[in-house]
Amino acid sequence: MATTFFYNILFVTLLYLLSVSNGCPPSERAALLSFKAALREPNLGVFSSWKGTDCCHNWYGVSCDPNIHRVTSIDLRGRSEDPIFSKAHRTGYMTGSISPAVCRLTRLSSLTVAEWNGISGPIPPCIASLSALRILDLTGNKLTGDIPAEIGRLRPLAVLNLADNQISGVIPPSLTNLSSLMHMDLSNNKVSGTIPENFGRLRMLSRALLSQNNLIGPIPNSISQIYRLSDLDLSLNQLSGSIPASLGKMAVLGTLNLDGNKISGPIPPSLIISRISKLNLSRNAIEGYIPDAFGPRSYFTVMDLSYNKLRGGIPKTISSAAFIGLLDISHNHLCGPIPPGSPFYHLEASSFVYNDCLCGKPLKSC
Ligand SMILES: *[C@@H]1O[C@H](CO)[C@@H](O)[C@H](O)[C@H]1NC(C)=O
Ligand SMILES: *[C@@H]1O[C@H](CO)[C@@H](O)[C@H](O)[C@H]1NC(C)=O
Repeated sequence: MATTFFYNILFVTLLYLLSVSNGCPPSERAALLSFKAALREPNLGVFSSWKGTDCCHNWYGVSCDPNIHRVTSIDLRGRSEDPIFSKAHRTGYMTGSISPAVCRLTRLSSLTVAEWNGISGPIPPCIASLSALRILDLTGNKLTGDIPAEIGRLRPLAVLNLADNQISGVIPPSLTNLSSLMHMDLSNNKVSGTIPENFGRLRMLSRALLSQNNLIGPIPNSISQIYRLSDLDLSLNQLSGSIPASLGKMAVLGTLNLDGNKISGPIPPSLIISRISKLNLSRNAIEGYIPDAFGPRSYFTVMDLSYNKLRGGIPKTISSAAFIGLLDISHNHLCGPIPPGSPFYHLEASSFVYNDCLCGKPLKSC
């Protein structure tokens, strides 16, 4: 009697253990298989482990929450430290598209399908319904179409990396609703239109990389309200208007790349005594004088002001800068003597050529 009771308990316990360890729900497994079916990876066999019923165990790149047994992460990177790449002596290549089936993985918090070079088609708009998504990294593919209009619904999103694709359309107005966003990289796409005027609502942003797109219009003043922003790259667009002076007052902004735009107006003196240590304003239509505002707080590893319309002389205060590693003021309309002093000892003539009448070392004497 007691033995039967014992075996009953054991049986029930075993059943229970089987049901919980039985990992992934069939609906999530089906969603993953649809996702896989839309992709083709001919070289490495990335998907060869995607078989059997339990998608939570040993499916390459898939992770589940151990408590709720739901898929929380897809991490497929065509350039990674994983042995499958070093063994094959090649980086990833995949074709096909990103199936909207991923949107059925409603607990997904991280979706990385990056550096596969050949994945095309649009970003499924339904991605905007993945309310737990924190990381969206689709960099280095051939994705086309727009950034999903409703992307702003992804409240926990911290990383949005869509660099190196062929994404077009505008920056959706809802994007500035991403109040958790820390890292945004849209570089090297075909994004057009203006940068939203209320861009400064992205208060958690520390890197905003928008270079090599077709953005037009002004640099929004509100950007300077992003207290944590350390890296702002708007280079190689069609931006116009002048540089907001408030950018020079930002607490941690260290890199400011505005090169290759249509920016006019003067260089705000605030930029010269800011936290900025890498400043590239090359290839714009910036006019006026180089501000005579250098001081011991001016520390530049890079200051590239070449190919603009600067005139006047090189300001005397520049000798008081703490450090200027790489200075390029070539291709402007500057005139007068190059001041002697430590910031200039290591510079070559190429930093100063193609001006109206600069003279002195390292150019010919005045
Ligand atoms: C941003 O979020 C607010 C509050 O949820 C909402 O009312 C608004 O429509 C959103 N803006 C956009 C452009 O989606
Ligand atoms: C500054 O930008 C220009 C134009 O995009 C580029 O050619 C140059 O290499 C950059 N300068 C530095 C020092 O990186």
